[in-house]
Amino acid sequence: MSSNYAEPGQLYPAHIEAIKARHDRALEKAGAGHAVIFSGAPKLVFLDDYYYPFKANPHFVGWLPLTATPFCYLIHTPGDVPVLVYYQEKDYWHTPPADPQGYWIDHFDIRVVHTVDDIARHLPHARDKCILIGDIGDEAHAFSIERVNPASAINILHYARSEKTGYELACMRAASRRAVRGHRAAEEAFRARKAEYEIHFAYCRAAKHTENELPYGNIIALNENSAIMHYQHRAREAPAKIRSFLIDAGANVHGYASDITRSYSFEDSEFREFIDRLDALQLELVSEVKAGVDFKDLHFLTHRKIADLLVTVGLASGSVESLIENGVTTAFFPTGLGHLLGIQVHDVGGFMQDESGNTIDRPSGHRWLRLTRTLEVDQVLTIEPGCYVIDMLLENLQGTPGAAMVNRDKVDWLRPFGGARIEDNVRVLADGCENFTRAAFAEP
Ligand code: GLY
Ligand code: MN
Ligand code: MN
Repeated sequence: MSSNYAEPGQLYPAHIEAIKARHDRALEKAGAGHAVIFSGAPKLVFLDDYYYPFKANPHFVGWLPLTATPFCYLIHTPGDVPVLVYYQEKDYWHTPPADPQGYWIDHFDIRVVHTVDDIARHLPHARDKCILIGDIGDEAHAFSIERVNPASAINILHYARSEKTGYELACMRAASRRAVRGHRAAEEAFRARKAEYEIHFAYCRAAKHTENELPYGNIIALNENSAIMHYQHRAREAPAKIRSFLIDAGANVHGYASDITRSYSFEDSEFREFIDRLDALQLELVSEVKAGVDFKDLHFLTHRKIADLLVTVGLASGSVESLIENGVTTAFFPTGLGHLLGIQVHDVGGFMQDESGNTIDRPSGHRWLRLTRTLEVDQVLTIEPGCYVIDMLLENLQGTPGAAMVNRDKVDWLRPFGGARIEDNVRVLADGCENFTRAAFAEP
């Protein structure tokens, strides 16, 4: 069976060896003997006694698929079986975490504890030989370990995270499939004239996700709302006239995310053609993805293609160069082409030149580009070009040569549809890429 279809659990043993090796290197660089990785503490709401939804430390999730277990500690000592101090609070307000179970447990020396004092007993006695990795808001959670998140070690771990293991790739393939189930149900709800609010729940139901389990808040945008990059509301009523739908929604599998956008026309054939053109443009960009490509160049190429699109559909006129130089493409496509994806939706390391902490700046004028690196095999990233009517950006063109290049009548045509974005998740290969998202949509 090809590893493309392997279950994550089958691939986990090799993953854990890769994770150990990278932590060995991080410890060596930091001159330390043990890495102690804190899963995190829930955060209290100001002046209240309930918690924000818990988000586990991504460094912890990289070791094992536990996304909802606060106050756990993973201890890695080179050459030893890693220790998991598994905190199972005796709590009658909440359901305590279940006993450890799953494909990962044989790889750890698991110590189930029920009190905070018990945690301390399982940590290495030589605290000065430890580095602690995690979000330590309260010193009590550091148990007297003084070196917290040393850059020397963190840089190695962050840089390494961009190259996914076979296990991680399997999780992310599955995360695309899980999200696509939601996307299909959402499109159906849109066709049935449902409100954003109902479309959102149709998505969650089909992806079998609660809202808090989603990798990011769903973007469920009808009509003009499609032009708001991270539109965060869910209108309770459907608009009287339904024109367009943009959905940017992902799913989570063992802590790994997908991040997928689709755009739809309700019935207008011209807007449907506009989406089809954007879809073709997106596929052309996907076909450029391979190891060795500088992602900045792909982002610049996107601007050229957006310039072509603007001219073809009549939104603007002028040469490709002049539309770019005068900021017209940026007004219609103000985001970056994509970003690294993994445990975090905007995964760490997008600007890292090496594992020593050197970075690659964004090109000036491209403030929302989140990936400036040269692509390497087994990186996973998004390709998400879009074209939107954002009046505040078009107004910025006033008084510049760009203003005369914009066709106001055509902008007025597009405005009620908002705009469109197509976003896939792709894995870089030596000579191309694997598109997790299109593969998932192609399944019955
Ligand atoms: N869903 C957020 C993004 O596409 O980056
Ligand atoms: Mn994205
Ligand atoms: Mn997205």
